[in-house]
Amino acid sequence: MSADDPQAKPRVRTGQTPTELSKDEFIHRWNQNFYDSAFEKKRAELDAIGEIAWEAYHDSRKAPRTRKAGPGFADPEHELSIEWLDAREKIIAAQKQHDSKESKTRVLLICASPRTDQTCPSEMSKTFRLTKTAEEIFAADHEIDVDFLDLSVLTAEYGRKIYPCKACVSTAMPLCHWPCSCYPNHYLGQTHDWMYEIYPRWVAAHGIMIVAPVHWYQVPSVFKLMMDRLVCADGGNPDPTSTHGKTPEEAKALGILLEITEPDALLTRARELATSIAAKPPLAVRYCKRLLKLAQQQSLAEHLDVCSSFQAICHKTDDHHEALTAFREKRRGNYKGR
Ligand SMILES: Cc1cc2nc3c(=O)[nH]c(=O)nc-3n(C[C@H](O)[C@H](O)[C@H](O)COP(=O)(O)O)c2cc1C
Repeated sequence: MSADDPQAKPRVRTGQTPTELSKDEFIHRWNQNFYDSAFEKKRAELDAIGEIAWEAYHDSRKAPRTRKAGPGFADPEHELSIEWLDAREKIIAAQKQHDSKESKTRVLLICASPRTDQTCPSEMSKTFRLTKTAEEIFAADHEIDVDFLDLSVLTAEYGRKIYPCKACVSTAMPLCHWPCSCYPNHYLGQTHDWMYEIYPRWVAAHGIMIVAPVHWYQVPSVFKLMMDRLVCADGGNPDPTSTHGKTPEEAKALGILLEITEPDALLTRARELATSIAAKPPLAVRYCKRLLKLAQQQSLAEHLDVCSSFQAICHKTDDHHEALTAFREKRRGNYKGR
């Protein structure tokens, strides 16, 4: 079988630093949650609960509460995490709110500094003050709802965490589920992840404003954590049953995947997609097609240069003006190709 053979089984390379703990090491780390000597009077109970935590770890019980995926998923019999299904429902509701003509324009305003007077730095961050000023300006416009997201609480609040992106997308696009299915991971103690609350807030927003200080020439880590975990919002696989959870061979075999359709619904869905592409501004669609073709021949630098030129042309069209007006008025654009 050659590497170019489409029938070849995808190869998954493994063998990185082992992470499995011995029982002694696991119990030692688990007990650090109860370092305060006040817990010692319940030592017998803690030891008994420690045994349960060890069993959960040993059995890799990532999502201990599940139910069958049901209709609409590639494998309706596959067990999905109830927490993941709840998060998905909230995202669907946020999308409806976003699209509704009745809902007000919503701005997500993000304070991306970790500094807060509620913990060690003991002083209010400048970023927070600037973000509050922006909030006052938005709030003065009664047509706008403002959702204030203060990432500094990550450093100060109990049970408030954003875990790092595990980068499933780098193995294969379909392995990156939307919303993220990596957390919570109960057997690893990776709980209290904030992203299931944050995803719907991004989805419901029509506009997003981020105010951030510079930390080592970069955005602060609190912001970067959130940003990386949004990779699944950009074309992530909405159906974890298609990869039976995290099965890399299945994900690699699927290749690039945006959605799964029943075979008898394929033509209808393809027509729907074609209609939605044809309803977009004709010039922008033509340039996109051209850019896809040019990308095969050009260097990255050349290609980015052509992309920005095409974008500049599109920005000067009547259709661009119409697109912005339609977005504000929450209606479909009516494009003329000019
Ligand atoms: C970890 C860390 C790294 C920083 N790196 C930079 C930097 O690369 N460039 C810079 O101009 N300031 C840097 N600063 C300073 C902060 O950007 C500056 O104090 C900022 O005003 C803090 O905003 P805040 O009041 O919202 O916390 C750094 C501060 C911290 C804590």
